Amino acid sequence: MSGPARVGRVVVLTGAGISAESGVPTFRDSDGLWEGHRVEDVATPEAFERQPSVVQAFYDDRRAALAHVEPNPAHRALARLEQALGDDLLLVTQNIDDLHERGGSLRVLHMHGELLKALCNGCGGRFAWSGDLVDFPPCPGCAAIELRPDVVWFGEIPNDMDRIGAALQRADLFVSIGTSGAVYPAAGFVQAASAYGARTLELNLVPSEGSHHFDEARHGRAGEIVPAWVDELLGGGS
Ligand code: APR
Repeated sequence: MSGPARVGRVVVLTGAGISAESGVPTFRDSDGLWEGHRVEDVATPEAFERQPSVVQAFYDDRRAALAHVEPNPAHRALARLEQALGDDLLLVTQNIDDLHERGGSLRVLHMHGELLKALCNGCGGRFAWSGDLVDFPPCPGCAAIELRPDVVWFGEIPNDMDRIGAALQRADLFVSIGTSGAVYPAAGFVQAASAYGARTLELNLVPSEGSHHFDEARHGRAGEIVPAWVDELLGGGS
């Protein structure tokens, strides 16, 4: 199924800002995760090699915290957009929380992985995971003690880059929501989409580091500006 012809093909990229109003901390805001933790201590393969328990505990805490947060109107608005546009929408998120899915989105590309999955360094298997990993349980597939959070750490290649690249080439509209534009390759998507002729829009609390690359930018809280934008795009349907 495809959406109203006048909308065309849309690629939406989201970041931590879309989950901020749900109570999930962002990374680089004043109360962000990287204020309390050094990236080098918790979000690199080297850190996992050096102090695996510290890394597991960091993600265990974030995984457990998911039980205390709910999707917000911005997540739900993107689920409405998916219903209206069908395959003409590709939703790519940098977030590892499950709030897009709990907000009703059926097809979400988690380019930085998912908290609710574990990855085995032994057999490469991926497993739904809601509990802790700090006690190093055996892999459900190969029984090896090789499980890690299924998240993409700094220095690792994000997921689904081929699919994302192909969608950016074919996009009529690229929209970035709640991301600081500080981390590549996601921060470079606007320029790629623009180079292939897409219109580009930023929806963020404040201008991001890449704000000048966008044709248009609207600033405000995602929970307000995203539903308004979706209503406008779909012609006032809600
Ligand atoms: N509504 C809209 N935008 C918001 C809101 C809100 N309520 N609250 C914060 N923001 C904006 C901030 O202004 C900031 O520009 O969201 C952005 C969050 O930026 P970061 O904390 O840098 O998060 P993100 O861009 O998702 O980080 C990218 O970096 O640390 C790594 O892997 C991690 O996926 C992450 C990547």
